[in-house]
Order: sequence, then C-alpha cells, then structure tokens
Amino acid sequence: MPWELIKLNDGTSIPSVAYGTWTLGNGDQTVNYVDEAISVGFAHIDTAQGYRNEEEAGKAIRESGLARKDIYITTKFSGRDELTIEEAIQSSLKNLGVDYVDLYLIHSPRYAQPDIPTAWAVMERLKAQGLTKSIGVSNFEIPHLEILVNSAKVYPAANQIQIHAYNFHSQLPLIEFGNKYGIVSEGYSPLIPITRMPGGPVDKPLNEISSRLNAKPEQVLLAWAKSKGVVVVTSTTKKERMEGYIAAGDLPLTVEDIAAIDEAGKQGARQQTARTFIRRAVVACAVASVALGLAGALGIDIL
Ligand SMILES: NC(=O)c1ccc[n+]([C@@H]2O[C@H](COP(=O)([O-])OP(=O)(O)OC[C@H]3O[C@@H](n4cnc5c(N)ncnc54)[C@H](OP(=O)(O)O)[C@@H]3O)[C@@H](O)[C@H]2O)c1
Repeated sequence: MPWELIKLNDGTSIPSVAYGTWTLGNGDQTVNYVDEAISVGFAHIDTAQGYRNEEEAGKAIRESGLARKDIYITTKFSGRDELTIEEAIQSSLKNLGVDYVDLYLIHSPRYAQPDIPTAWAVMERLKAQGLTKSIGVSNFEIPHLEILVNSAKVYPAANQIQIHAYNFHSQLPLIEFGNKYGIVSEGYSPLIPITRMPGGPVDKPLNEISSRLNAKPEQVLLAWAKSKGVVVVTSTTKKERMEGYIAAGDLPLTVEDIAAIDEAGKQGARQQTARTFIRRAVVACAVASVALGLAGALGIDIL
C-alpha cells in the first residue's frame, strides 16, 4: 500500500489519500469516475451535501462490490436545503445508500449555527448514535478551533483545509495548532500550483524533480503534500491520472526536493503579497484622484 493509513484521535484510521467528487457533476459519467477511482485503488471517497453528487458516489461504491468496511466515506454538512445537521446526515446516508459514514465534517465555520459549541454538540450526538464513526470540521481557522476545543467533549478528528505549495507556509500554524489537539489536517486542492497558479516559482523545482524521477508534475505535488503528514484530498476525471495519483504514494522525494518546493512556494507567496499590495495601492490612488477631481469640480477644497 503506497499511501498509508493515518491514525485519528478517536482510535480509527483514515486512508491518507482521498478521491474528491466536488467538480465531477452528476449522472452516469460521475458514477463512472468514482467507479474508476475505486478500481485503481482509492479507498477513500470525499463528498459533501453541497456537491450534490452523493447519490452518484454511493452508486459507484455499491457497484464496486467492496465490503462497507473496506471503503472510507467522508461527507460534509454544507448548510443546504434548510436542513438541520441531524436532518442533513440522514439525507446524506440515504443518498449514499449506507448506514453510517466514516467521517462527517462541518463544511465551513459559517454553517456552525447558531454557534460553534451548539453545532458541535450535535455532531457529538451523531457520533454517539453511530451515524458517523468520526466527526470533524473543514475550513476552520485557529480562532474557530479555539472556540471548539474549549467547549468540545470530543475533539474533532480532522480539519479539512486548502493546502498547496503556495499556501503551506501560511497554513502551518493552523496545522500545528491541530497537531496539539490530535486534529489531523486534510489538505484539499494540492494541485493548485499547476491548475490555478501555473507559471510561478514552484514550476522550476517541480519540472526538475519530475524529469529526474520520470514522474508527472501532479504526482510530485501529491508526494510533496504526503510528506507533510496530511490526508491528501485530490481529484481527476482521467483514469491515467488516477493511477498516477495512487503511484505517487511511492515517489522517492528527497529532503532536498521537499525543501526546494517549500522554498519556491514561500517565494511565490511573497510575490503574491507584493502584487496584492501594489494592486490595492493602485486602486487607492485611483479612488483618491477621482475624489480630488470631484471635489475640484464641486469647488470643495479638501487639501
Ligand atoms: N472542504 C472544502 O471546502 C473543499 C474545497 C475544495 C475541494 N475539496 C475536496 O478536495 C477535492 C479535490 O479538490 P480539487 O479538485 O481542487 O483538487 P486538486 O487535486 O488540486 O485538482 C484536481 C484537478 O487537477 C486537474 N489536474 C490534474 N493534473 C493536472 C495537470 N497536469 N494539468 C492540469 N490540470 C491537472 C484535474 O483535472 P482532470 O480532471 O482534467 O485530470 C482535476 O480537475 C474535491 O473534489 C473535494 O472533495 C474540499
């Protein structure tokens, strides 16, 4: 098994790579994607109430013929359809066609209503009722986790957050805060350096490492994310890539490879901060000059 299991703070274990259904749409094609992912070796499917394709994921899981205990299912409460958390998990279980999920997450702190302690107490009840083996959160930041751990009877098992080479440095305090309480971080969108931010400083080490290891850039990014000890949540519609993702668990990245990607990621983040600063300064100057022009036209002396 190239991707190991990671132990959670409630005694269960989670497969360290997940196949996500967020962008897979609906219908038979979606069932086929999940079906293929399971057939190439994904044992963890990550879905959500908000993705609107739990039914397709459930169908593929049933068609795979795998015993329930051999597939790990994560779904999330996404605050849709005016359902309470209790109603939403029942709806998700029905859509997925299972009696329990392995991990149930609050998709975002904004869905923890009326407040985090109250919503979390409901999550604790769902776990006690056996509707989910583990409970966790997603997109929680340190202040949200602080509120949570101060009121929780059961600490969250996981926090699913965005982790990629360009934001890893800024996410590190959150990951370390989680570690302090045994909260495993799950990193989604690990391929952002090639999907949404190509052309940045990570490209150079990524291409060099990929050529040396005869691997695809996406495999190197997944292996880099794995090296951080997080659960990697990724996706693809292409069978060849699915196979590559599973094989990436065995990619022999060196300490130097990981450091080179870390460094390039930090450099990219600094460039991004500088660009944001300049953009804001330009907008501020433009607003000021319009205001001055307007004031002049109206005969108001504001200087
Ligand atoms: N909790 C949350 O709020 C949250 C938010 C976002 C995502 N997620 C979870 O994380 C999962 C993965 O998210 P993601 O899709 O953003 O992750 P990702 O793994 O960063 O990106 C997956 C995408 O990368 C593309 N890709 C792979 N290799 C590529 C290459 N060499 N060049 C260009 N494109 C390439 C794939 O396209 P092809 O299909 O063409 O291969 C696929 O669309 C989601 O499905 C969801 O389960 C959770």
